[in-house]
Amino acid sequence: MSAPAFINTAFLLRRIRDLRCLTPRRTRVKTKWATSLPRYPATNMALQNFDATYSLQLGRLWPSVRCSLLSERKYGALINNFSDHQDVVSDLQDNGCLDFVSATQREAPISSVGPERGGGESEDTAGGGEPQESPGDTGEDPPLSLSPNIKCLVFPCGDITRFKPSRPDGHRLLGYYLLDAASVLPCLALDVQEGHSVLDLCAAPGGKTLALLQTQAIRFLSLNDSSVSRTSRLTRVLHAYVPKHLLAADRLRVTSLDGRHWAEFEGNTYDRVLVDVPCSTDRHSATEEDNNIFSKIRTGERRRLPQLQMDLLLAGIKAVRPGGEVVYSTCTFSQLQNQYVVQQALHLAGQEGIQLQVVSLQPLVRMLSGTFHFAPDLLLGEMVVPHLTANFGPIYMCKLRRLC
Ligand SMILES: C[S@@+](CC[C@H](N)C(=O)[O-])C[C@H]1O[C@@H](n2cnc3c(N)ncnc32)[C@H](O)[C@@H]1O
Repeated sequence: MSAPAFINTAFLLRRIRDLRCLTPRRTRVKTKWATSLPRYPATNMALQNFDATYSLQLGRLWPSVRCSLLSERKYGALINNFSDHQDVVSDLQDNGCLDFVSATQREAPISSVGPERGGGESEDTAGGGEPQESPGDTGEDPPLSLSPNIKCLVFPCGDITRFKPSRPDGHRLLGYYLLDAASVLPCLALDVQEGHSVLDLCAAPGGKTLALLQTQAIRFLSLNDSSVSRTSRLTRVLHAYVPKHLLAADRLRVTSLDGRHWAEFEGNTYDRVLVDVPCSTDRHSATEEDNNIFSKIRTGERRRLPQLQMDLLLAGIKAVRPGGEVVYSTCTFSQLQNQYVVQQALHLAGQEGIQLQVVSLQPLVRMLSGTFHFAPDLLLGEMVVPHLTANFGPIYMCKLRRLC
């Protein structure tokens, strides 16, 4: 007997789909959950936004950068000098890891000449014109010394082996901290010297703080993060990696204040200030729905980011003493959150009589280009861009020296 004429193929397919016994358990979705799913996933919104802006900004690089952004990221193991780390380092080296910081010191001269771009001429930056990186009056940057105590091990280019979780030593201190290896670069750029006082204005959860502490050169370290829960996480990280006597109040202070108002509390004080601001966290936004700044309910927060970043950078600039240095960093490609924020902060600082010089990070780029891929031709600062063979970043950094 033939089927009634009104039963068409689509109808039959729908009936078959409705037979739950034919649907594998793992792919069944309760209707209630399905209706509460976001209509526009935040990751899609992020990628749409990135495609529109970064294809213009990064040009031909964008398709390969996008592909890397969506692929598994690569980590680095920041070695904890405060633990019994010798065996940890040898084990990692036996597995093929290399310390990219010390490899750099062996391969490249530490002193450096001024930047190749921007004509290599000295340039005032506080007036709000087109800022350029300054090699100083002599045409040469002062030597950039990478702290020999910061060790970060990575698997070689193209090797995507994962690190095992770190284990505590006899004193219950962990041997290494896993982080995007490019996150260490702003700390290297900060160039902390013996006896310096340092402010980490947005410090939690503490990867960069740990890198700064590894220098073992800091006289006083002030750690701040406006989020109370993240500050608690930072404190837990410190206890897991740093011996108690180094956490004493005369050496280290943790606060949970709004960094935008820091100058009202401590101005013209520090030798070095790290301003690692909240940003659109591009890799996270492109891959994770959870806590995604591109979700609809966070639209306002996302739009306010450049203003918040600029206020924080300005606060960092005011907190550093004349002659001291500030590093601004983000983990986004966005020009609006990187170069434009720095330009605007320079302009506003200039209006308040604070003169700044942009310090070239080209020497650092030259030293580390065997490990990281850098965006070419940025007007201000430097940026690590993800690459399938070295899937670190994005990390943007710009260094400023306060002249007066
Ligand atoms: C990119 S994360 C910092 C990451 C950290 N430097 C690290 O390496 O682990 C930015 C941090 O800024 C904090 N933050 C946001 N607004 C702030 C404000 N107004 N003042 C101080 N910190 C702020 C956030 O809570 C967040 O922890």
